[in-house]
Amino acid sequence: ARLGVLLSGRGSNFIAIADAIAKGSLTGCEIAVVLSNIADAPGLAAAQERGLATEAYVSKGVPRAEHDARMIAALNAHEIDLVILAGYMRVLSPDFIRAFPDRILNIHPSLLPSFPGLDAQKQALDYGAKVAGCTVHFVDEAVDHGVIILQRVVPVEDADDETSLSARILEQEHQAYPEAIARVLSGRYRTEDRRYRLS
Ligand code: GRF
Repeated sequence: ARLGVLLSGRGSNFIAIADAIAKGSLTGCEIAVVLSNIADAPGLAAAQERGLATEAYVSKGVPRAEHDARMIAALNAHEIDLVILAGYMRVLSPDFIRAFPDRILNIHPSLLPSFPGLDAQKQALDYGAKVAGCTVHFVDEAVDHGVIILQRVVPVEDADDETSLSARILEQEHQAYPEAIARVLSGRYRTEDRRYRLS
């Protein structure tokens, strides 16, 4: 399968996926292109260093529909099977989501449906949650809402601040994302009444 990765920032999840492919723990796929809406995103530079195809479409000041049309065209040009959101900090338009039905994955640093949206780790701390984690899910038209592929849990320690909790969650993200992609590519799971499970 051909993966198209979308990122806006440091790209550590992208790197974890690329490493998993390189060392053979994630098989049956390749990263066909890495796209960013931020021209100087560190994740884009990391992709270039790995010799991957990269393209930047600056989104600032561009209407969402227009920007997304460019992204869809780029993904289609690279014949992408699966879209991987890896810290892509823009909400996708309904047109984008309809262009890749059940073929867009996202990772969110909370145990959804708790703490959707921005600063999820801080939301968990402020709420006083005792466990936190990450969720890999399919993307639908509501933010951080689609069918859950898998989740990983971490404890919230008394001494945690946003930095320490985020780091503990991020470590799990890097394992969860390649594993979730493998699950989707295996073709052995089905969604029934929102439950994604072995069929
Ligand atoms: C991660 O916390 C991810 O869960 C969220 O954005 C962050 C991206 O980090 N969606 P990175 O760019 O992959 O390092």
